[in-house]
Amino acid sequence: MELTALNLEVNQNIAIITINREKSLNALNTQVMDELDFLFTDHLSSLNIKGAVIKGAGNKAFAAGADITEFMSLDASSGSALSAKGHRIFIAIENFHLPIIALVNGYALGAGCELAMACHLRIATETAIFGQPEVNLGLIPGYAGTQRLPLLIGKSKAMEYTLTGDMIKSLEALNLGLVNYVLPYDDAFNKAIEIINKIGTKGPNAVANAIKTINAFYDKSQDGVALEIDIFGKSLATEECKEGVSAFLEKRKAQFKR
Ligand code: COA
Repeated sequence: MELTALNLEVNQNIAIITINREKSLNALNTQVMDELDFLFTDHLSSLNIKGAVIKGAGNKAFAAGADITEFMSLDASSGSALSAKGHRIFIAIENFHLPIIALVNGYALGAGCELAMACHLRIATETAIFGQPEVNLGLIPGYAGTQRLPLLIGKSKAMEYTLTGDMIKSLEALNLGLVNYVLPYDDAFNKAIEIINKIGTKGPNAVANAIKTINAFYDKSQDGVALEIDIFGKSLATEECKEGVSAFLEKRKAQFKR
């Protein structure tokens, strides 16, 4: 698939994905969603990468929501289909086997906030502003904002921000646990790269399994404890674990196969 709404660059084995709709504050239209779908369900797995950073073009927005101009043509059925598709794509990001970091500079509203929350970590700049303002449009969040916001910041604050549509400034986002770090732009970008490189030195199966098992805790259809017990046992029998344990005992750095 040719990417037109996203820009994909691979730099030193890290994918940098830029939402490239600066004039519309990087609003997530159908094209952006289709290209995210292509990347996370297909293309990225074929690349030799350690992880990915998702960011917005320009300095005003990560993404200011779903593209509101596409809403007028929707009815109940096509609206639900749009929401279900968004859920599926964001679950693919959440469960991706490599670390995905949202680098949030400027607005991350509505679907933009939901995309950031689907990533494994969020690093914000000082100008980042989060929010679920859908009530202003007579709507509720549609790409899992009602599910992931309470998970990240607790029900009480999630309820307040979703019902009022109030925006969450970067330091408040940090205090709430919505973001991992707040840093000036260059430092934020470098921090994302540093974290992905650090994770890249760890056992790749262990990293993928940790993502899977942590996510299972929040998935009502799964028994996270049973999954952890199963994967912990199976991990002990892998070459990767043998290498990690041997390296520790031999006082050397583990050399994991990627
Ligand atoms: N969908 C489509 N277009 C959007 C958009 C969205 N979610 N958010 C911003 N844009 C467009 C604006 O319509 C405008 O386009 P124009 O130049 O053709 O008029 C352009 O991006 C710049 O936005 P503008 O509103 O002029 O910038 P601002 O600095 O005055 O305000 C925001 C910034 C983010 C506060 C404001 O754009 C906004 O409230 N956006 C919608 C946020 C939202 O409700 N998101 C949830 C959607 S479900």
